[in-house]
Amino acid sequence: MPTTPIEVRAHAKINWMLRVLGKRSDGFHELETIFQSISLHDTLRVYPGEPLSLSCNEPSIPTDASNLAMRAAAAMIDRFGAPACRIELEKRIPAGGGLGGGSSDAAATFRVLAPLCRRPPSHEELADLALALGSDVPFFLEEGTAYATGRGERLVPLRAQERIPLLLLLPDEKVMTPDAYALLRSGRDEGRLPEGDAVGPDRCKTAARGSLLDDPSILINDLEAPVFDKLPRLESLLDALRATHPAWARMSGSGSTLVGAFRDHKARDAAVGTFRGLVETVLAETVTLA
Ligand code: C5P
Repeated sequence: MPTTPIEVRAHAKINWMLRVLGKRSDGFHELETIFQSISLHDTLRVYPGEPLSLSCNEPSIPTDASNLAMRAAAAMIDRFGAPACRIELEKRIPAGGGLGGGSSDAAATFRVLAPLCRRPPSHEELADLALALGSDVPFFLEEGTAYATGRGERLVPLRAQERIPLLLLLPDEKVMTPDAYALLRSGRDEGRLPEGDAVGPDRCKTAARGSLLDDPSILINDLEAPVFDKLPRLESLLDALRATHPAWARMSGSGSTLVGAFRDHKARDAAVGTFRGLVETVLAETVTLA
């Protein structure tokens, strides 16, 4: 009898805001960010009780022990007595795009395996394990709309921003997260706040009571300037995206994905044609999960 898989979606994220507040002694940067789950997702099919392995429909994705989903499964087996499992990963979230695909795959693996463990981890143990795999993995355990500080693991849920139409531009130029922060290190903005102090959770909570798009002035990304210095085409693409009149447009996270958020689906759909033949586009919308 073939085993029945447990199927789970691993959603991508964008960052409504990403501010770098300073460099820490552990090499990471202190952040202030607003994460947002979006409809674009990978699908994982997990077959518990089979030897640990990973296969993926996308040949460029490593399927060895370095893959974050494999690392998540191995940690759950070692630490909490999860059953070994085979994982089939259907990849849609591009790598190197600042959309958190690998991190989301890891969090989805945690979510599937946690209830199957001999000693199921507490919420805190799972969050610690998640952070050990990557700064944004704890967010993917929660999903939705969240304000975060620290490396991105101190999370405050915000009122969900639902069904906002998004246009994602996925340039061929990819940015690896450490490179984006290294560009910041070598740049002139190190540890400086472009507009004074941190925005803070209270202002973000208030802003999220309505639509975040009502006050996009706080929705900035400090990694944009250093990444655009290195990859000027991204800035031209963002200018072209802004010319289609989204309510807000920014680079997501450490790039290279550029995101425009629109007031309605019609405005978003009208903008897509501008980019035909120029850059890969993906239509998505914000989602609330959990
Ligand atoms: O935690 P994660 O694996 O996503 O981080 C990848 C790299 O991005 C880190 O090694 C570090 O260079 C940089 N980073 C950082 N500060 C953060 C998150 C990531 O400097 N808060």
